[in-house]
Amino acid sequence: MSFAVGLTGGIGCGKSTVADLFEKHGAGIIDTDAISHHLTQRGGDAIAAIRDTFGKDYITDDGALDRAKMRTLVFSDAAAKQRLEQILHPLILEQAKAQLRQLQNKPYTVIVVPLLTDSPAYRKLVQHVLVVDCDETTQISRVTGRSRMTAPEVRAIIAQQAPRAEYLQLADDVILNNAGLDNLAEQVAILHKRYSNMQCGH
Ligand SMILES: Nc1ncnc2c1ncn2[C@@H]1O[C@H](COP(=O)(O)OP(=O)(O)O)[C@@H](O)[C@H]1O
Ligand SMILES: [Mg+2]
Repeated sequence: MSFAVGLTGGIGCGKSTVADLFEKHGAGIIDTDAISHHLTQRGGDAIAAIRDTFGKDYITDDGALDRAKMRTLVFSDAAAKQRLEQILHPLILEQAKAQLRQLQNKPYTVIVVPLLTDSPAYRKLVQHVLVVDCDETTQISRVTGRSRMTAPEVRAIIAQQAPRAEYLQLADDVILNNAGLDNLAEQVAILHKRYSNMQCGH
């Protein structure tokens, strides 16, 4: 197996942006959010189990997960959130492992896992942890800038995620993403050089 880096951090800290930058350098990228989205699209592997567990009200007419409805449910119902995760997490992990096997020709692979703090299986899968971090005010302004979410909604999500200190405790490397995109690209370029020279087990 080639070298695998787990990329994590809070909402809006810049995980997807950092992953895109690594991809331009030629790294393999696995995005667990994208896998999750795919599993819950029309015809996705998680749809039948979601219908069995939550009822057909949570499936749209064209056979996809009704994301808005599910988001509302899991936000206020911890047991429902857990049931959804019990369906999705094993399927996402299986897909991530399959993609990792297919990316063995890459110099290294970056696996984006937003909740790495709560995911022992991914911590076993990766040899190295990279945390992208920024101030909470920056997080809020970037997320409200990229979506229709309001500042209180973003704050509520941040409050549900692990505290920054918990992410930072896991980190082998930290990208501090408070400055502009040029600065971010410079930090990624430096890490790319290092990761290209690392090998699994070293
Ligand atoms: N250094 C930066 N300067 C300006 N905008 C940024 C920077 N880093 C990220 N962004 C923007 O902030 C938003 C959140 O970044 P994103 O990579 O989507 O975060 P995450 O994937 O961690 O939720 C995006 O719209 C992205 O384009
Ligand atoms: Mg993202």
